[in-house]
Amino acid sequence: MTKRAVWIALLGLPCLMWAFAAVASNPQAELQRWQQAAGQPGNAARGQVFFGQRHGSEWSCASCHGQPPTQDSKHASTGKKITALAPAFNSERFTDSAKVDKWFKRNCKDVLSRECTSIEKADVLAYLLGLK
Ligand code: HEC
Repeated sequence: MTKRAVWIALLGLPCLMWAFAAVASNPQAELQRWQQAAGQPGNAARGQVFFGQRHGSEWSCASCHGQPPTQDSKHASTGKKITALAPAFNSERFTDSAKVDKWFKRNCKDVLSRECTSIEKADVLAYLLGLK
């Protein structure tokens, strides 16, 4: 092996493996993650109601994502385009656990002034996965 090949093997491979481990997820796996944490299955009907409710604040999830969230929508304050949240209409949705965690945290704080519980997240995902 050349010196360069050794370096690529030593540094490149672990980086690649790390990158895969960090991003690889899918909507079904994310649903399962929250269902497991909640100890019960997500309920799509409950998720639909939750998504459209204001929870005592100015915004609901639907204010930015639309309802049903099956097409492009606009951010309620900046007007910036947000692509469809339902995974059947946007293959990039729920494919990165870190992104899911980050945005659930941020958006739930905006809407509910607290983090969403595991069962609330499972309900939302069950609702989103049911949109075809
Ligand atoms: C003030 C606007 C706003 C509100 C309200 C809002 N969101 Fe979001 N949401 C965003 C933006 C911006 C992103 C990140 C950009 C993107 O992914 O398109 C995002 C991304 C997400 C993602 C990441 C999904 C992924 O894997 O790509 C989830 C999950 C999510 N929102 C759920 C919710 C839920 C649940 C609510 C209601 C509790 C909610 N959002 C309310 C603006 C909002």
